[in-house]
Amino acid sequence: MIALFINGKSHALALDPSTPLLWVLRDELGLVGTKFGCGKAQCGACTVHVDGQAVRSCQTFLEDIDGAQITTIEAVSEIPIGAAVQQAWLDVDVPQCGYCQAGQIMSATAMLSEVSVPTDADIANYMSGNICRCGTYMRIKKAIKLASKIIEADRQGRD
Ligand code: FES
Ligand code: FES
Repeated sequence: MIALFINGKSHALALDPSTPLLWVLRDELGLVGTKFGCGKAQCGACTVHVDGQAVRSCQTFLEDIDGAQITTIEAVSEIPIGAAVQQAWLDVDVPQCGYCQAGQIMSATAMLSEVSVPTDADIANYMSGNICRCGTYMRIKKAIKLASKIIEADRQGRD
């Protein structure tokens, strides 16, 4: 039995320990906001947070994450930084087809949790594992910079 805390709820999973987290999220728990793209940790469509770090859930196996805290796109807005990222995504109107965007938002939220004012190089570096077939990269960069400003304004409002 493997225990996971997913979006604040605990789950005891009697599954093969080698099952990829992506299949647990989508097929067992119906959390289909996390997308399947390549299945090989090369496109970023399946990105979720494990203990706050962005990981590719298609290549993250249950046996390696027993007891971990998982956050998916369905609950990212409960993290204040995730809420700011989603707001910026809406304001900039980032998506085209939308398929890659859950993964992009999860990576951007993890990055802004570590680096509150990212440079262009930071963004290129952190986001390089998230592929967008529609080529929304310029809008993604703009939205990340806007999210950084929203987060900073919130912080100053609280001081
Ligand atoms: S589906 Fe996981 S990285 Fe592409
Ligand atoms: S918006 Fe279509 S793949 Fe990124």
